[in-house]
Amino acid sequence: MGKMGDRKKPRGYIGVLIVMVVLGAVAFVLVLTYGKRLGIGPVGAVSTKYADALKVAMHFFDVQKSGKLVNNTISWRGDSALEDGRDANLDLSKGMYDAGDHMKFGFPMAFTATMLSWAILEYADNMESLNQLRPAKDSLMWITDYLVNAHPKHNELYIQVGDPVADHECWDRPEDMTEKRPLTKVTTSKPGSDVVAETAAAMASASLVFASSNSKYSSLLLGHAEDLFSFANEHRGTYSKNIPGVQSYYNSTGYGYELL
Ligand SMILES: *[C@@H]1O[C@H](CO)[C@@H](O)[C@H](O)[C@H]1NC(C)=O
Ligand SMILES: *[C@@H]1O[C@H](CO)[C@@H](O)[C@H](O)[C@H]1NC(C)=O
Repeated sequence: MGKMGDRKKPRGYIGVLIVMVVLGAVAFVLVLTYGKRLGIGPVGAVSTKYADALKVAMHFFDVQKSGKLVNNTISWRGDSALEDGRDANLDLSKGMYDAGDHMKFGFPMAFTATMLSWAILEYADNMESLNQLRPAKDSLMWITDYLVNAHPKHNELYIQVGDPVADHECWDRPEDMTEKRPLTKVTTSKPGSDVVAETAAAMASASLVFASSNSKYSSLLLGHAEDLFSFANEHRGTYSKNIPGVQSYYNSTGYGYELL
């Protein structure tokens, strides 16, 4: 790759910018005028394109699911990672794989659950009108079921399943993987207020999502959220300082935001 500094700044870039802004404005007016006919719709309407994007996004969560699949509609996915957590006598088979790998990273998974919860809280009506509310809640629960099991004791949270180095060298399907699945946890001697408080946020926001449809599950989540928050608050520490191995994947610069 060449260095950025090697390239000359293009002279005509102001002109290009102006042309783009004008084209953008014209496109906006066209959408407002003819959008309905094209199925694009005015701002605020549930357009077909956004509807498709939402369905694809919900589909993505199904693709990422680990464990014994329920209602699986992805033809090329099957059960996987059924023994995850067994070393600690836990069932950590659910949850979602991080990306194209088979890692379960607790920090981004908790963030995902938090964001998905708030999306459902804000847009449940729109999701429902497109039949995407149930898939969204099922995917959320697929993560929170995992997080509940990852928090077996007051001051203990499992924050990772899998060995990222071994995993990233192995380009197999999760259904066929044979790699060891080591477990990583935060404790009072190796605390991680960032990952623990983010997990508390995931549990708390998900407890709001399930408050009306499943009050028992909602209180279970709230209990975990409160317990995790006190662990995060009373035993303060940055997980990537205490478990340096996580730095190459989901590093942390501190825990202030998560506690807040
Ligand atoms: C499976 O489908 C049933 C029936 O629609 C639904 O009630 C349930 O929540 C779904 N479970 C999961 C895990 O997707
Ligand atoms: C992780 O973040 C810390 C704090 O910002 C930084 O000092 C450290 O170098 C980072 N580690 C890696 C591997 O990037």
